[in-house]
Amino acid sequence: MRESTLMEKVTRRTISFSSSFIFFIFSSTIIFLAGKSSAKFSHDGDNNVTALFLFGDSFLDAGNNNYINTTTLDQANFPPYGQTFFGLPTGRFSDGRLISDFIAEYANLPLIPPFLEPGNSQKKLYGVNFASAGAGALVETFQGSVINLRTQLDHYKKVERLWRTKFGKEESKKRISRAVYLISIGSNDYSSLFLTNQSLSISMSQHVDIVIGNLTTFIHEIYKIGGRKFGFLNVPDLGCFPALRILQPNNDSCLRDASRLANMHNRALANLLFKMQRQVKGFKFSLFDMNKSLRVRMQHPSKFGFKEWEEACCGTGKWRGVFSCGGKRIVKEYKLCENPKDYIFWDSLHLTQNTYNQFANLIWNGGHKSDSLVVGPYNINKLFQIP
Ligand SMILES: *[C@@H]1O[C@H](CO)[C@@H](O)[C@H](O)[C@H]1NC(C)=O
Ligand SMILES: *[C@@H]1O[C@H](CO)[C@@H](O)[C@H](O)[C@H]1NC(C)=O
Ligand SMILES: *[C@@H]1O[C@H](CO)[C@@H](O)[C@H](O)[C@H]1NC(C)=O
Ligand SMILES: *[C@@H]1O[C@H](CO)[C@@H](O)[C@H](O)[C@H]1NC(C)=O
Ligand SMILES: *[C@@H]1O[C@H](CO)[C@@H](O)[C@H](O)[C@H]1NC(C)=O
Ligand SMILES: *[C@@H]1O[C@H](CO)[C@@H](O)[C@H](O)[C@H]1NC(C)=O
Repeated sequence: MRESTLMEKVTRRTISFSSSFIFFIFSSTIIFLAGKSSAKFSHDGDNNVTALFLFGDSFLDAGNNNYINTTTLDQANFPPYGQTFFGLPTGRFSDGRLISDFIAEYANLPLIPPFLEPGNSQKKLYGVNFASAGAGALVETFQGSVINLRTQLDHYKKVERLWRTKFGKEESKKRISRAVYLISIGSNDYSSLFLTNQSLSISMSQHVDIVIGNLTTFIHEIYKIGGRKFGFLNVPDLGCFPALRILQPNNDSCLRDASRLANMHNRALANLLFKMQRQVKGFKFSLFDMNKSLRVRMQHPSKFGFKEWEEACCGTGKWRGVFSCGGKRIVKEYKLCENPKDYIFWDSLHLTQNTYNQFANLIWNGGHKSDSLVVGPYNINKLFQIP
């Protein structure tokens, strides 16, 4: 089956159930505003930079957690993390680069440094990475071990004040509004419930509402400071990640409640963003359907150059679902695959550089009618081009 046919099927089925706003929007109605994929962003020295700010969780964290008092559960600063591209561990939860690293490259920016990394003050004028592995929109999510979204916002405010001093009020304002804000949040607010065996005292939909409520506050705060161009990754089908699948012994299917929460979150997120687009002046966004992009690769791995979709490259146990990559966590034993690029999952909770590379490509270039309709209404390239 061709991918587009598959997508059409999925879409038609979804629309006939008439509840999935995101697929409806992405596949039928919008005139895509995607930019030319070949257009190269250029900036003259420091004068016309479109900066990149990154917020959220391990899908974007480039090493902030190296500098906080936490445990190895939320750190990836030991081998074999980083082996494929950097040749050494950086704190990124992958064998190499993350989505944000590829986006920075496409935008002709240097690698965006972690906020907490000492030095690099020159590089931090091109953007700053505030993301923290394990972080959620809720303060309670892995509390004490991560930098939650609220605190990430405080860090951003510090940078903004610094820019005002450095560039002056007017110029700083211009840079803040020209910048692109890429956010990946939510996965930990849901997966933590299962990974730490907590039960919810409220309903699943109430839980999702609180997460989305906190995210809404966060977006409004950035907007108030002057941010206008936002990019979002939605939450992947968490129940199908090896670390969550093994929580259900003698049952090979995905962990239903984890997937259900992710699903509810993704609908609410799409609703929120399209509503803000209508109601908030100048608010522009790009939403990447990471769930769909991951699912289609798990269903048709070879079509995307993968040999293994189910098992993680690094870890132990069934599907290498035990989070032991590197041998520095609770379980010390781990196995490592020969060719990470053949794998979709790097460890039981994260993806390989090859997977992230494909996603970054879609996020940067996607949104045209001809591709798999997983990014819109803008792609990130277009957001960078908007003055
Ligand atoms: C780090 O956290 C642990 C456990 O919460 C605590 O015992 C320790 O004092 C902390 N260390 C520093 C340097 O803050
Ligand atoms: C976010 O959620 C927590 C509950 O975890 C709540 O206490 C907090 O006030 C919320 N608001 C913001 C803006 O983060
Ligand atoms: C998780 O919690 C439930 C009840 O709260 C308990 O029955 C179960 O044994 C716990 N599982 C683990 C792995 O701790
Ligand atoms: C396996 O888990 C799925 C989803 O959690 C559930 O629907 C199904 O009934 C389970 N199958 C067995 C054999 O327990
Ligand atoms: C992911 O996408 C599939 C369709 O590709 C959909 O059936 C599923 O509900 C989605 N899950 C989440 C977590 O959004
Ligand atoms: C600055 O960059 C934007 C694209 O981000 C472009 O539209 C604009 O013309 C540039 N201005 C100058 C003075 O180079």
